[in-house]
Amino acid sequence: MAHCRVPNFLLILLGPMLFAVGWATMESQVLYELERDPAYWDAQARETLDAALKLRPRDHQAKNIILFLGDGMGVSTVSAARILRGQMEGRSGEETVLAMDTFPYVALSKTYSVDRQVADSASTATAYHCGVKANAKTVGLSANAVAYECNTTFGNEVYSVLRRAKAQGKSVGIVTTTRVQHASPAAAYAHSVSRGWYSDADLPSSAREQGCVDIATQLVTNVDIDVILGGGRMYMTPKGTPDPEYPTSNSRKGDRKDKMNLIDIWLKNKSSHYVWHKKEFDEINIKTTDRLMGLFEPKDMRFEVFRNSTRDPSIMEMTEKAIQILNKNPKGYFLFVEDEIDHGHHDGIAKLALTEAVAFDKAIQRAAQLTRESDTLTVVTADHSHVFTFGGSTPRGNPIFGEIIQNDKMPFTSILYANGPGYIHVNGSRGNITMEYMQQAAVPLDVETHGGEDVTIYAKGPMAHLFHGVKEQNYLSCTSSSHFIILLLCCMLLFHKR
Ligand SMILES: *[C@@H]1O[C@H](CO)[C@@H](O)[C@H](O)[C@H]1NC(C)=O
Ligand SMILES: *[C@@H]1O[C@H](CO)[C@@H](O)[C@H](O)[C@H]1NC(C)=O
Ligand SMILES: *[C@@H]1O[C@H](CO)[C@@H](O)[C@H](O)[C@H]1NC(C)=O
Ligand SMILES: *[C@@H]1O[C@H](CO)[C@@H](O)[C@H](O)[C@H]1NC(C)=O
Ligand SMILES: *[C@@H]1O[C@H](CO)[C@@H](O)[C@H](O)[C@H]1NC(C)=O
Ligand SMILES: [Zn+2]
Repeated sequence: MAHCRVPNFLLILLGPMLFAVGWATMESQVLYELERDPAYWDAQARETLDAALKLRPRDHQAKNIILFLGDGMGVSTVSAARILRGQMEGRSGEETVLAMDTFPYVALSKTYSVDRQVADSASTATAYHCGVKANAKTVGLSANAVAYECNTTFGNEVYSVLRRAKAQGKSVGIVTTTRVQHASPAAAYAHSVSRGWYSDADLPSSAREQGCVDIATQLVTNVDIDVILGGGRMYMTPKGTPDPEYPTSNSRKGDRKDKMNLIDIWLKNKSSHYVWHKKEFDEINIKTTDRLMGLFEPKDMRFEVFRNSTRDPSIMEMTEKAIQILNKNPKGYFLFVEDEIDHGHHDGIAKLALTEAVAFDKAIQRAAQLTRESDTLTVVTADHSHVFTFGGSTPRGNPIFGEIIQNDKMPFTSILYANGPGYIHVNGSRGNITMEYMQQAAVPLDVETHGGEDVTIYAKGPMAHLFHGVKEQNYLSCTSSSHFIILLLCCMLLFHKR
């Protein structure tokens, strides 16, 4: 093994010199030199093999579960985000190891829903939260429920791991960069035939008359959720209530026709705090706070690229605070953390999506520092993919958003979307793009679409070895459930009832 150490030694020796000439380029040059030596690959493979041989399943129940959900984070998005993270840190990029790359167990998740080959975030959220595949647009309901038909709600409710964890005396939390009433977190606590019924103002009067309840109301009445962090203020306050951050904006005022203030209702419990600004968020005393609601925007939070870091916390900061509060419960906790990588892809702007994915990975990294693998099952997955790819025989270290030149001298971006707003054609031929911002799309659509291929499940901690092979997406919460024995029973009962 001695010869294997030479490369590292060389790197250390050359290190100080490299700073003088541009560390990033030179570091990459040294790396490429090392990679020419078979011993480099041999040493790296041996290290990986050693770790694989030492890996032992942790065959006991988890005390805590953290479920990280990258909304729209397909495999190609993870690979591109890995390169971006490396390049942001001044390296070539491809060799970077993401926090999620270090998870020892991996499975593939089949994401189709009962009624769609390519699924949406609502049906998939029902699958991974509640263990049951469902119909598009619906949350927390089996496929017996029909989208937008209120009267198909009742009797078709399915229940999430979050709810079951709470019933077991654990603390529970949701963290998201969208509005907290958005489809992905909503399936953890709500049952709605429409993912869009954020406040009562969004329900048709017929649905209200038939007894359907908006998602924001269900957020504070269905399950007692200890930590709620994200956006979505306007669905919580009476119609016309000025927004604290945008007091002169009419479109961001409170939205509730029933004049309820749901924040006040949630605050009734003791040791509860509500914040809407990063300053108050930072001042939260973990010791005296058992419940925390932070709503940082009227609707979704801003893209990480546009985030004002003195006003809004990052997903990493929200994840950290959530774990610190939930961890006070000696019985453990369930935490759901979502990053909306999806929206940047829908805009056809890879930078928005991939920067989110990097921020998401940093949250995963921070959670790993705050938890122990011996008692915490951490799972990272996505609800669905996007029609996003990158290619073109690009050279090593190529800037991930860079353009490359094709044979006909027409530049094209290495990153491409199969459809979306990046379609630029002039008189029937591909336009000569000079944009660095939006990537090209083959088919013109106002909004780029989801992709239908499998997504990855990464897992570590107790019972993580149950994530292997190719699985249906609903398996995810059944497996999570098995860590609480009663939950597994619930899961089986549900299964037999159908
Ligand atoms: C449910 O409501 C729809 C209209 O929204 C109606 O057509 C249907 O008959 C109702 N079904 C039941 C079982 O009441
Ligand atoms: C908060 O209030 C709800 C509703 O009154 C109650 O069910 C729950 O147990 C309370 N939680 C705490 C931590 O006091
Ligand atoms: C960020 O927010 C702070 C505090 O609200 C504000 O003073 C500052 O102008 C904002 N910065 C930008 C770039 O918008
Ligand atoms: C498109 O074709 C028309 C008709 O041949 C021509 O007049 C026009 O200049 C072309 N536009 C561009 C941008 O090439
Ligand atoms: C496309 O634009 C680039 C840069 O503006 C230019 O160098 C190149 O010649 C153009 N190609 C064609 C085919 O017009
Ligand atoms: Zn989407």
